[in-house]
Amino acid sequence: MSIFVDHNYRTSLGTGFYDRVSELKELDSLIRSNRVMIVYGPRNVGKSELTRYWIHKRRLATVRINARLLRARNLLESMDIGYVETQSMDSIKTLAQEILTRLGVRAGIMDIVLGIVLKVAKAIKGNRLLIFIDEFHELPKYKSEHPRSKYEVALEDLRSLAASLSKDNAFENVNLLLTVSEGFIATDFARSELEGYSVEWMLVKHIDETHFKALYREYSKRKECNLSEDEILRLVGGSPGHLSELCPLDKNGLTRRLRVWIQEVETALSQARNILSREMGKEMSPSEIIANASKLMEKPVKPLKDPISYGLGQVLTTYNIVYPEWSEEGIHYRPQYPIYKIILDIALEKNVSSLLELNVNEVYKKALELKD
Ligand SMILES: Nc1ncnc2c1ncn2[C@@H]1O[C@H](COP(=O)(O)OP(=O)(O)OP(=O)(O)O)[C@@H](O)[C@H]1O
Ligand SMILES: [Mg+2]
Repeated sequence: MSIFVDHNYRTSLGTGFYDRVSELKELDSLIRSNRVMIVYGPRNVGKSELTRYWIHKRRLATVRINARLLRARNLLESMDIGYVETQSMDSIKTLAQEILTRLGVRAGIMDIVLGIVLKVAKAIKGNRLLIFIDEFHELPKYKSEHPRSKYEVALEDLRSLAASLSKDNAFENVNLLLTVSEGFIATDFARSELEGYSVEWMLVKHIDETHFKALYREYSKRKECNLSEDEILRLVGGSPGHLSELCPLDKNGLTRRLRVWIQEVETALSQARNILSREMGKEMSPSEIIANASKLMEKPVKPLKDPISYGLGQVLTTYNIVYPEWSEEGIHYRPQYPIYKIILDIALEKNVSSLLELNVNEVYKKALELKD
């Protein structure tokens, strides 16, 4: 298999850009037929970098708002404008600042975005303009809300934005692209809420093994890593965003990290147990939930035929333990990281009722496929 890498481009990891040939084509086709594109997938998998690379290669007129940065800085510092004629730049910036001052970021981020979009759309005179909100779920407006209501507010905003884009002539040449790592936006609920507004989802999965190993080789030439590429693939799959954190870990560091992963799954499972028990009107046992969660990650689920798995999949998607992939066979919920599935399988084998009972050293050995 030949390796695709662009060494003329520097990623934020400091390497060339690897893989993603089919994703780039998919973005090309999505922008032709949809107004709003939601790029989702496991954390750290490369959603933002992929989108930045695509915009760079296609030289798309873009206003990019980095929602994560916007939490700490003001709008202008978190906004990039690319491939727009320089005459339009100053007016865009002044306008953004004006709106920001008038409304305050927390109060009216959507108004700010719409305001900018309108002005820029005029400024570029009929050419296509892409508004790219990177890490949409991180917009400051959603910061302090309770997780569930925060999601509802975010979805509500997104729906009104999508409605304006798809129905208002003023936005004819404007596309909106969001990246999100929060599972909520990829649940069936969010999909149905946004139906009819020319919204399409794109799933970004892990980088394939061959490309990931090549990327790892380039990265580790500069950095000292204790973990091998196979070990990283076993733990978090081909998600390059974990390289800087995992590479230098020694056994103790990795054991601590494993405890965090175990805790993440445990928290999500106990939430799922509460929600499903309530919805079905009968108490589910912790081991039942563990067994169902492990099964869930193995084969596609048909929602109507298998309501428990489906409900569990929805909850575990909101908690970022799995992500859904839709196909004709149903919805396939896949683990965000391979380690999550390994943890569940060990729990099943040991017949524990809480994942916190697991022996971390055993998980460590199993995860790294070490022999006793
Ligand atoms: N195709 C790629 N080739 C090389 N490096 C990559 C590639 N994709 C992502 N990276 C690097 O991996 C790291 C994580 O990527 P990125 O921030 O895009 O992930 P993400 O999915 O947007 O993460 P988050 O869930 O935090 O939003 C970055 O340092 C990025 O430069
Ligand atoms: Mg990102």
